[in-house]
Amino acid sequence: MIRTSRFGVMQEIRERFANRAVSPEEVSQETLYALIEAASFAPSCFNEQPWRFLIAQGERKAALLRTLTPLNQEWAGSAPVLILTLAKKTFTQGGKDNYWHLSDTGCATGFLMLEAQRRGLTAHPMGGFSREQAREAFNVPDDYSIVHVMAVGRPGDIGKLSPRDQERNHPMPRKALEDLLL
Ligand SMILES: Cc1cc2nc3c(=O)[nH]c(=O)nc-3n(C[C@H](O)[C@H](O)[C@H](O)COP(=O)(O)O)c2cc1C
Repeated sequence: MIRTSRFGVMQEIRERFANRAVSPEEVSQETLYALIEAASFAPSCFNEQPWRFLIAQGERKAALLRTLTPLNQEWAGSAPVLILTLAKKTFTQGGKDNYWHLSDTGCATGFLMLEAQRRGLTAHPMGGFSREQAREAFNVPDDYSIVHVMAVGRPGDIGKLSPRDQERNHPMPRKALEDLLL
């Protein structure tokens, strides 16, 4: 299923959705680095680039998976890679609070998701996990916000999802443009 666009929006944006069917097939390090590079090209306040990414595979993936809610563990466990996204709370120059650290990091992960889409991968962010447990498991310093966990991999077999996830595994509807404009 693909979204229709009234105004010819780019294909990757129309195609992307929160796919929960992820194949366990490995993703190469080069591809993972390409996704991080895509994120690194995002704009940020004072070019602070507050985003940080912890690529979790093997033991680290198992540790990160344990922090997810049971419902997320059900589908995200099959992903070959989980990425923990962090954002530095303060500016490196001067140490003042960086109000924009989460917004800049959201923009960076948007770039990452679209590059994943272009490469035939899915990158699905999750807020359903324990930020406290993730902070402890990976010794994340206080100066970094824990943003989300992303499941990354190739699209997988929808038939392996729970009936609930199968039923919702399609692009979600959007508000009308008229409702977004003030
Ligand atoms: C910050 C954030 C947190 C999310 N948390 C979860 C989650 O915990 N579990 C999940 O299955 N999907 C999660 N999602 C996916 C959203 O539910 C999904 O993007 C939204 O329903 C719109 O659907 P679409 O991306 O398919 O258009 C999250 C997305 C974002 C951006």
